[in-house]
Amino acid sequence: MTFRRTKIVATLGPASSSPEVLEQLILAGLDVARLNFSHGTPDDHKARAALVRELAAKHGRHVALLGDLQGPKIRIAKFENKRIELKEGDMFRLSSSHSRAAGNQEVVGIDYPALIQDCDVGDELLLDDGRVVMRVELKGADELHCRVVIGGPLSDNKGINRRGGGLTAPALTDKDKADIKVAAEMELDYLAVSFPRDAADMEYARRLLTEAGGTAWLVAKIERAEAVADDEALDGLIRASDAVMVARGDLAVEIGDAELVGIQKKIIAHARRLNKAVITATQMMESMIHSPMPTRAEVSDVANAALDYTDAVMLSAESAAGEYPVEAVEAMARVCLGAEKHPTSKQSSHRLGRTFERCDESIALATMYTANHFPGVKAIISLTESGYSPLIMSRIRSSIPIFAFTPHREAQARVALFRGVYTVPFDPASLPANKVSQAAVDELLKRGVVEPGDWVILTKGDSYHGTGGTNTMKILHVGDPMV
Ligand code: G6P
Ligand code: MG
Repeated sequence: MTFRRTKIVATLGPASSSPEVLEQLILAGLDVARLNFSHGTPDDHKARAALVRELAAKHGRHVALLGDLQGPKIRIAKFENKRIELKEGDMFRLSSSHSRAAGNQEVVGIDYPALIQDCDVGDELLLDDGRVVMRVELKGADELHCRVVIGGPLSDNKGINRRGGGLTAPALTDKDKADIKVAAEMELDYLAVSFPRDAADMEYARRLLTEAGGTAWLVAKIERAEAVADDEALDGLIRASDAVMVARGDLAVEIGDAELVGIQKKIIAHARRLNKAVITATQMMESMIHSPMPTRAEVSDVANAALDYTDAVMLSAESAAGEYPVEAVEAMARVCLGAEKHPTSKQSSHRLGRTFERCDESIALATMYTANHFPGVKAIISLTESGYSPLIMSRIRSSIPIFAFTPHREAQARVALFRGVYTVPFDPASLPANKVSQAAVDELLKRGVVEPGDWVILTKGDSYHGTGGTNTMKILHVGDPMV
């Protein structure tokens, strides 16, 4: 039985909110549904979340819900006539005092006055994801006078980035703080923080989420130049998070597209080394917004992320607002499965030559070493409370499926993001201790994952309550009596 190991995150939106389309997305292999708080109302998100949970349950699937906070995206205000056309060499002003509704060919308002202080003469500003570029030539008290370097159309509310990053806006806006409460109320499984500068931004978000009663795991979106400026900055941000997202849209604009791929590979490697999950996002199958087929370059992009061992690949507008949301998920699933047939390295050297920090980590890594080197092992069963034990296991390269056996709804959904990890609802505490191994293996027999004669590795702790207790690894021969 072949399981797709690389998981699929798809953003929900107008194109994917009907029960029919959602059901097809789930059947096509959706693992994590992303709710983008930049668009839609809390009620829209609640309705979509309820539908996802209902339809997933109907099909015995476990789909995690990821909320994505809007963050301090700096934007221009509006134009009198909705859009203008800028030409190379034109002078154009960004003004914090100009009317927000009355931009014209010479000037447009901005909703973030600190941009003026943050910028200096010579800085390059990228508007609309870099489609229009201008250089600051003069700085007034409330205006930046810019020369257009790359011209093009500019319309209402387009985003502004500075080449090289370094804008001071704090990661959480008032809207984000309100949305954190909504996320807690919705019991979301993951919550992504946009534009975090450092660990402190993540810690602040975590505090607000905890205060609101939320248990979501936090995802840091890596999208500022300063977050990838050096290993210390990157690792600090990763350590303060439960997972990270390579948010390639804004990141590419800040660091330049040429360096993006190298940085993406580095973020994936660092996240895995630090025991965190990682999502590769933005424009992965962009042409599928209007086409039923991905381009060769898009296939290559998704396949390469899978070969680099990302936990998940993500769809944005393709599934939220495109014409082919279901086809996009199907294409991703197909490409990931194909890529996984050709692993770049069969043997993992993950953390070889390093020491382990915890008992459960040692068991998890020993389990993977054994699974990869003992022919006949067809599956791993990890009894888990929070999903932590299978998370550690899935940091190691392997083709053996890892089954997270857990009674808790949160963990059942959460592990849907982890590469090569699959949920099996199971409550060991409801069974006599000497029946647990057999009952667990029976679940895999029932699903056709193993057959008599196969080997299975099972991990657990001495007590069946509480996270962090994994201290046992058993090698079981399917078909033999087991205790
Ligand atoms: C379940 C098992 C325990 C184990 C725990 C590990 O509760 O029954 O024996 O200790 O999971 O949970 P964790 O969250 O650390 O993966
Ligand atoms: Mg972004």
